[in-house]
Amino acid sequence: MKERRAAKIFLLGITLAVAGTVAAVAHDPKDWPVPAAFKKMKNPVPRSDAAVAAGKALYNDQCISCHGEAGKGDGPDAMMYEVHPADLSDAHMMGMMSDGEIFYKISEGRKPMPDFKKKLSDEQRWQLVHFVRTLAPKMQHAPAAKKPATKKAPASKDKSENRK
Ligand code: HEC
Repeated sequence: MKERRAAKIFLLGITLAVAGTVAAVAHDPKDWPVPAAFKKMKNPVPRSDAAVAAGKALYNDQCISCHGEAGKGDGPDAMMYEVHPADLSDAHMMGMMSDGEIFYKISEGRKPMPDFKKKLSDEQRWQLVHFVRTLAPKMQHAPAAKKPATKKAPASKDKSENRK
């Protein structure tokens, strides 16, 4: 009797340990459930250069330390956390998320990412959604011929502002 119970507890311990490891490693946006009401939300802030620029300023202020300048999850503080900051430049992952999902995640956070719903207004968080969208290359239907943006002739500076 006693041994069986000990075995059961031991097994439970292993199960929990494994579950914990999996939760810490897996980083599929699907693992972060978002209420349906948010998923369907449309960005109420019209997309404009001004909205993207405002989002960028907020990003540089609040997000860059973890997510990095280009959104790759390589900000100066990223190493401090066991859960790696998400790569916001990952077109596949970002393509799976609606604007409302991004808004929800920014609003609620998930450790170690803080929540921003008290710190930033709704409008500011929607501006961030616009900016975050610029970090991931648009998914093309055809695998467009590789055009490394950096190889392009350095176009007039003023127009390239919102890209980087
Ligand atoms: C303290 C570090 C930190 C800060 C600051 C931070 N994040 Fe995060 N962020 C993370 C981590 C870690 C994750 C992954 C969380 C997870 O998957 O459990 C994440 C995930 C995300 C996701 C979801 C991606 C996915 O996989 O679903 C988005 C979107 C995001 N962050 C945007 C932002 C924005 C915008 C800001 C600034 C307003 C910000 N983050 C600030 C650490 C941070």
